[in-house]
Amino acid sequence: VLLTGASGVLGGRIALRLAERCTVIAARHSTAPAGGVSVDLDLASPASVARAFREALPDAVVHSAALADVDACERDPERAFRVNVGGTEAIARAAAERGLHLVTLSTDTVFPGDGGLQGEDATPRPLQVYGRTKVAAEAAALGLCPGAAVARVCLVTGRGHGPRGTASESIAWALRDGRPLRLFTDQYRTPVDADSVAEALALLLERRGHGIYHLAGPERVSRHALGLRVAALLGLPAAGLEPVRYADQPSAGPRPADLGLDASRARDELGWTPRSLEAAIRLGRAAPDIIAPRS
Ligand SMILES: NC(=O)c1ccc[n+]([C@@H]2O[C@H](COP(=O)([O-])OP(=O)(O)OC[C@H]3O[C@@H](n4cnc5c(N)ncnc54)[C@H](OP(=O)(O)O)[C@@H]3O)[C@@H](O)[C@H]2O)c1
Repeated sequence: VLLTGASGVLGGRIALRLAERCTVIAARHSTAPAGGVSVDLDLASPASVARAFREALPDAVVHSAALADVDACERDPERAFRVNVGGTEAIARAAAERGLHLVTLSTDTVFPGDGGLQGEDATPRPLQVYGRTKVAAEAAALGLCPGAAVARVCLVTGRGHGPRGTASESIAWALRDGRPLRLFTDQYRTPVDADSVAEALALLLERRGHGIYHLAGPERVSRHALGLRVAALLGLPAAGLEPVRYADQPSAGPRPADLGLDASRARDELGWTPRSLEAAIRLGRAAPDIIAPRS
């Protein structure tokens, strides 16, 4: 399997899970990816994508790489579209030319967060540049590569990879270091842990799943409630958690408020069962990994 984004906080966990069942060829961008064999790949360059496919000669593709920093996408929409949409188009074309099964990752923030649990047939209406690039990337994957699957992932918790933490790890590291944290009481998500996402992707590859699948955890929580759960479960002081209302931050720009995904399709068709939020929080790392920069 050719895996893009294998150095990512989620992508690194996908690399480890897939390596249990097949040979993973990790696409290398600026950081050493998780996994043994690698090929160079820059999503911003269609020629680089084509070359990576020629070198890797994969049987299937998992496309996890993206410019996934919401604020960076807002600051530089042109780059966000080039990497997230142009890159996915190049991947989808290369996979289609070779008749390969493509599984590509997307996000819950294709939805505006109006409340309720969104099913796969709900109409996307992103509020931000990042979500808009992902909607276009989904269309490219599904439109250009017959039989492709799109996995829309909620806020990621649990054990991550590399120097950045998952949502639950980042909270734990801040509390452990005595750093204060302001967390929204009025922003809700259905968080899912990275290893459960990786398991769903392995199942999608095995069963050649196609179309859109929502990957969400079993609980809906606010960001602040997530912070309190992390503190309580890991025995960390909750005093540094400051509850704030997103609605009271006029300069912050639009963000989805109440955003949940309904993961019934993945549960029913793939037999997928995501971990509980409690198990996910307990799985988190006590400290970030150190990743070697590219030599
Ligand atoms: N983490 C979450 O909470 C979350 C939630 C919903 C959906 N997702 C989606 O899940 C996927 C994986 O997320 P993640 O958390 O692992 O992201 P991440 O930690 O931000 O990692 C991004 C990955 O993309 C690679 N990348 C960035 N620009 C690239 C380029 N121009 N060419 C090739 N590779 C490039 C990075 O490689 P370098 O480091 O080498 O640059 C890195 O491996 C993304 O599609 C994201 O949109 C994530």
